[in-house]
Amino acid sequence: MNIILCDNYDDASQKAYKLLLEELKRNSSAVLGLPTGSTPLGLYKFMTDGFSEGDFSYEDIVTFNLDEYAGLSRDDPNSYFKFMMDNLFRALDVKIENINIPSGLGELEENCRIYDKKLEEAGGIDIQILGIGRNGHIGFNEPGTPFELTTHIAELSTHTREDNSRFFTSLDEVPTKAVTLGVKSIMNARKIILIAVGNEKADALYNTIHGPVTLDCPSSILQMHPDITLFLDGAAGSRL
Ligand code: PGA
Repeated sequence: MNIILCDNYDDASQKAYKLLLEELKRNSSAVLGLPTGSTPLGLYKFMTDGFSEGDFSYEDIVTFNLDEYAGLSRDDPNSYFKFMMDNLFRALDVKIENINIPSGLGELEENCRIYDKKLEEAGGIDIQILGIGRNGHIGFNEPGTPFELTTHIAELSTHTREDNSRFFTSLDEVPTKAVTLGVKSIMNARKIILIAVGNEKADALYNTIHGPVTLDCPSSILQMHPDITLFLDGAAGSRL
């Protein structure tokens, strides 16, 4: 694991962007795995600003998002589809047909198999960007989720629903399920870039880096990944 301690969130986002940009310039048709949440917003701003300044064209990039809430349509204000359009895709030249986000509507099991097939046909993920939950979840792979799963339906933990309730009007409105890439799908990525900031992530980071590899902390499996770089602020890295 390559661990980079950064001055603050902006610095972590900028350093992550620099590494991502180097990789994209090496492979301009890369398959990019993308997260939602608060953490990637800084990186997404560097990506969109960089695009405006001519850093890179995303026209041949293919994207696969980590997850989507069950039961929300694409235009729901809280759907991850909408989040990605608003915070990243609309400001880049990525082709709409190259954007993949699991569907949280209809036959969810079928949606999972379709997503796995699409990812396989695309040749797997070249660069996976990750955030991390305070319980060590990656994607919506909560503690206890078997490491060998690919795309599947996840039950969201109380922790996660509480953390994400800030985006909804009440906790009751937070979906209880999601469609998510599995840990196996994430571990198959050729390169992983993880960003984490804030005190509330410090235990998760300690367990990710120093803890035993255990289902109790899904992110601990990342110790086994051959090419992962973590960009942390001082608070997230405070227990290391
Ligand atoms: P956050 O979520 O970026 O909003 O903290 C991270 C995650 O749950 O993976």
